[in-house]
Amino acid sequence: MTPLRTRSGHTQVAQEVAAPGDTQGSYLRVVDLKVHFPTDDGLVKAVDGLTFDLEKGQTIGIVGESGSGKSVTSQAILGLHRNTRARTSGSIFLDGEDLMGVSNERIRTLRGNKMAMIFQDPLSALHPYYTVGAQIVEGIRVHHSDMSKAAAKSRTVDLLGRVGIPNPKKRADQYPHEFSGGMRQRAMIAMALANDPSLLIADEPTTALDVTVQAQILDLMRDLQAEFGSAIIMITHDLGVVAEMANEILVMYAGKAVEHGQVNDVFYQPEHPYAWGLLSSMPRLDRVRQSRLDPVPGNPPSLINVPSGCAFHPRCAFRAEVPGDACKTVVPGLEEARPGHLARCHIPTERRAELFETVVKPRL
Ligand SMILES: Nc1ncnc2c1ncn2[C@@H]1O[C@H](COP(=O)(O)OP(=O)(O)O)[C@@H](O)[C@H]1O
Ligand SMILES: [Mg+2]
Repeated sequence: MTPLRTRSGHTQVAQEVAAPGDTQGSYLRVVDLKVHFPTDDGLVKAVDGLTFDLEKGQTIGIVGESGSGKSVTSQAILGLHRNTRARTSGSIFLDGEDLMGVSNERIRTLRGNKMAMIFQDPLSALHPYYTVGAQIVEGIRVHHSDMSKAAAKSRTVDLLGRVGIPNPKKRADQYPHEFSGGMRQRAMIAMALANDPSLLIADEPTTALDVTVQAQILDLMRDLQAEFGSAIIMITHDLGVVAEMANEILVMYAGKAVEHGQVNDVFYQPEHPYAWGLLSSMPRLDRVRQSRLDPVPGNPPSLINVPSGCAFHPRCAFRAEVPGDACKTVVPGLEEARPGHLARCHIPTERRAELFETVVKPRL
């Protein structure tokens, strides 16, 4: 395949927009991120104290049921809650640069350039009135004002070919409605990749696609990551996608991380009863590929009146394991069950291991 990095002057431009990195920290560092929305019904605590790191070349999978705060997290990283009613706190560092502190202009420069997002719905990212090619050209030229229109056009055609769109030259001159769902998704990925972002956030990128196209798009993202060493945040409710794509998993529940660890650790020794529920809702551990998550029994929590103590306690089948009413009254900390494997649960670690082996695993 033709490499993406073909245009002249690219390296120079990339250096110019990249702030000198803090080599000590991770490439992306999110610390105690909170995003709260004041609404007529009360304060929606969509993200409520989220911390994680991500290195270049690595993929973190963020999973959790609908409404757990996954998209709001990614929007916050991209600075999309600025100048809205959202109350955002905590820190986000990208390559050592404090994103919460920088100007709107700087965020716009970084967005689409150093960081980019692939959405679930390509129509939300593609404008119906402009050709697909024109939109990608525009995305390139916004960040590379020195590039000629012809050079940007030729790069656009390259990109469309690179994401597997047949006859890219002709396709570039078509409108989004002339593309099939899968082709639109590819076009949006091409647009997201137009400036070789070093942080790529994919929010349910393949949910709307059939299995074959889904596999092709995941392959494509993996190839691109191998080529450019991007850091990827993969948001999905499909554990099969996580198993295939991610190095680490972060499980979100009611705006908080309830479990976080290496993919294999979380798959084979999950710590949190909610993660047990997610795994049980898959048909078979060794056939994760085709699976979609069935809902974990019980109702998703309100983010306005988040359950007291452990937010999961009303749905937790194991809360009788904890004496007294700690599950109901004390918010558990996110603690290391084993090195590099964190869980937010009052049940003692050894007891959790026992429960998983004897009660949960036999049912998986
Ligand atoms: N702009 C907003 N105003 C108020 N509530 C919002 C806003 N955006 C998202 N929410 C709420 O925040 C919660 C988390 O949403 P989201 O991050 O989209 O969940 P998901 O994990 O499904 O991606 C949901 O309850 C959603 O309704
Ligand atoms: Mg979402």
